[in-house]
Amino acid sequence: MAYVRVFDNETQVAGAAAVIIASAILHKPNVILGLATGSTPIPTYRELIRLYQNGVLDFSRVITFNLDEYCHLPAEHACSYHYFMRKHLFENINISAGNTHLPNGNAPDLAKEGIRYDMAIETAGGIDLQLLGIGRNGHIGFNEPAEQFTYESHVADLTPSTMEANSRFFEEEDMPFQAISMGIGSIMSAKEILLIATGMDKAEAIRKSLQGDIRPQIQASILRTHPKAVYLLDQAAASQLDCSKA
Ligand code: GLP
Repeated sequence: MAYVRVFDNETQVAGAAAVIIASAILHKPNVILGLATGSTPIPTYRELIRLYQNGVLDFSRVITFNLDEYCHLPAEHACSYHYFMRKHLFENINISAGNTHLPNGNAPDLAKEGIRYDMAIETAGGIDLQLLGIGRNGHIGFNEPAEQFTYESHVADLTPSTMEANSRFFEEEDMPFQAISMGIGSIMSAKEILLIATGMDKAEAIRKSLQGDIRPQIQASILRTHPKAVYLLDQAAASQLDCSKA
């Protein structure tokens, strides 16, 4: 069962998420972090940057693996997750570029790239703390609703709901329809999982993932079988939870 903590607002969610990540770095300076993109983690990254600037955190030995990247979008594109991570975190802290990893959505053989990425995570020792957001349809990374869970890193066809949610960042003709994503295996192998969700548009996905059946149509529901998963929510994202089931 996942541990759920509800805060008044997204600033508090970000503060709490940053405390958990900061504590992991302080306990283990060479911690392996799994990182997420999307608008939800941006305030958390801002907090981590502040802790670095105040001299509290040192990222020089931290290793990161991101969840996903769009396919066939240049890494320099302003909407790529490579660009996102540089802008919102990496270029503002003292992390070594060689310690940051994202799947290559432009690899000539994307199936091989998935295998390479899983091996890189395993060789590094597996993820200590995995940060996750959640899609409106319950996806994590780009593990979209499906008939079964896919454990390996893989190419995912984005669903219309995900493309619609992400279209706010793209010119219509640029919108990617595929992404390469870490699979459920690497995510669930993380020693600790931290899912953050804010806003009303996540309320249904949060309810289904925490209080519906565990099923691949709501990929995040599998997190309830993880021994150390924490959900940090604001009031809006938690608003559809049935408290009698808590
Ligand atoms: C994308 C990412 C997910 C993220 C989701 C939600 O689909 N692949 O990792 O959780 O967006 O994004 P947002 O936080 O902007 O709602």
